[in-house]
Amino acid sequence: MSAKNLHFVTLLGSLRKASVNAGVARALPTLAPEGVTISALGSIGEFPLYNADLQAEGFPPAVEAMGAAIVAADGVIVVSPEYNYSVPGVLKNALDWLSRLPAAPFKHKPVLLQSASPGALGGARMQYHLRQTFVFLDARVFNTPEAMIGGAYGKSDSATGDLTDEATKDFLRKHLAAFVDFVQATS
Ligand code: FNR
Repeated sequence: MSAKNLHFVTLLGSLRKASVNAGVARALPTLAPEGVTISALGSIGEFPLYNADLQAEGFPPAVEAMGAAIVAADGVIVVSPEYNYSVPGVLKNALDWLSRLPAAPFKHKPVLLQSASPGALGGARMQYHLRQTFVFLDARVFNTPEAMIGGAYGKSDSATGDLTDEATKDFLRKHLAAFVDFVQATS
């Protein structure tokens, strides 16, 4: 498969306007290898809190739309902060909804993890909890290199969250290129 045929979607774990993770996700389309396209999924803030009774009445349209976009994509890039050493509740809630869709959108889906934090570890602990969830969803999570962007406030515009650090952009270019190789080698 040529890289030109690949399309990835980003799943953002922060709802904050000036989110540094949103800044990373926004930068990705410009950092992708030639021919690879990347677009943002809808906001997980649109999802209600998971409740099996609600599900029994029918999946919310935002959940169905995101599931369909994931099914259609060649890979999902999750970009998320770490909250209390783990996965933010909004992101876990979104994964819980998506996991109940009959289409099982994450089954065998290539997944790339990225996180940014003002702390030194860059969200590393969150990523390992996220990996555990993706085991049950039977996704194919890329291993190394890992993208854990520490000291992120010094690498982003404080008003917008836009990623400004050129060394981080260079690393993310390599991260995306390695993910493309992974997707092509294992599909
Ligand atoms: C945080 N933050 C944080 N950072 C970290 O590296 N490890 C952690 O465990 C936590 N825990 C945590 C809990 C809660 C409830 C909040 C609100 C924040 C700090 C977090 O990394 C920081 O707020 C980031 O700016 C959040 O990412 P966005 O929204 O800027 O993308």
